[in-house]
Amino acid sequence: MAPETSEQTQEELILSFLADGGEDFTSGEALSSKLGLSRTAVWKHVEALRGKGYRIEALPARGYRLVEVPDRLTALELSPLLATHDLGHTIHFHETLGSTNELAFRLAHDGAEHGEVVITEQQTAGKGRRGRAWVSPPGLNLYFSAILRPELPPQRAPELTLVAAVALTEVLREAGAEAFIKWPNDVQIDGRKVAGILTELSAEPERVHFVVLGVGVNLNAQPEHFPEELRATATSLAQARGQKVPRALFAASLWNRLEEWLDLHLETGFDAIRQRWKELSSTLGQDVLVRTDRREFRGLAEDIDASGALLVRTEDGSVERVLAGDVERLRPRVTGQP
Ligand code: BTN
Repeated sequence: MAPETSEQTQEELILSFLADGGEDFTSGEALSSKLGLSRTAVWKHVEALRGKGYRIEALPARGYRLVEVPDRLTALELSPLLATHDLGHTIHFHETLGSTNELAFRLAHDGAEHGEVVITEQQTAGKGRRGRAWVSPPGLNLYFSAILRPELPPQRAPELTLVAAVALTEVLREAGAEAFIKWPNDVQIDGRKVAGILTELSAEPERVHFVVLGVGVNLNAQPEHFPEELRATATSLAQARGQKVPRALFAASLWNRLEEWLDLHLETGFDAIRQRWKELSSTLGQDVLVRTDRREFRGLAEDIDASGALLVRTEDGSVERVLAGDVERLRPRVTGQP
């Protein structure tokens, strides 16, 4: 199927006015004057939207009301819900992709602008951190990659991963889950992974060309959608709250929140992000086993520093600074016993 790239169509505008109206009816007259269309043309667009699975109620004296949106992630569902200035204004939707990060990287390399987003219903080669795969079954979850062109030196680009983890955790909490960040950027519910972030960078020594911020969130997956070996360690928002998640609503809330945090980061620096990250993290104050490419050691996760590195106090009292790796929580130390 051909990809769909967004531009604000009249159907999207109608949906956005109806979404703004919430439970209230919006009159046909108001729609036609806002859009500069005849009442018949408005009616035809409403019929076309119904054909695409939108439930729109119509009452003669009152107008139109949006009752239900289809569980899809194209611009038609997402654009009316966005309150962003850049993020998601261009959406590259594909029914299936190898990896959204890969396509986003190619598009950015070919000149795609800040805020463009690649989104798909399914990935056949979803990428996780440290060469792992990201399980991406169709029609259930959220997989997207945002192209960012921040005014940052390359050494500060990793901060963006923490910005995304903060936004993601806040939106999961607002959706009814007790989510926490596990360093560096896993988001967990009940100690199981619900979301991950993979940031990829194109830069020269002094300048970032672009960052691809890839986010995968398990929204409606059930245990049987995960391979056997992940069932004990993965979860989804629907499993945690016992209720199906409206994916477009979740995605739009996340993009809205993400852009707010990205703006704050750009305006005021990393400190506000670091503070919020610490409040949302389950790693700090824990005894952990740290695994990096080169070594493994134990210690107490004490803090993150001004660049997001984990500070771990080891048994000999020294503090190790961990820039990249995995941490595993160890059982709490038993004290006061022989
Ligand atoms: C992790 O290992 O925790 C990171 C997982 C990142 C997965 C997302 S899904 C959308 C984007 N495209 C990819 O191939 N990976 C990221």
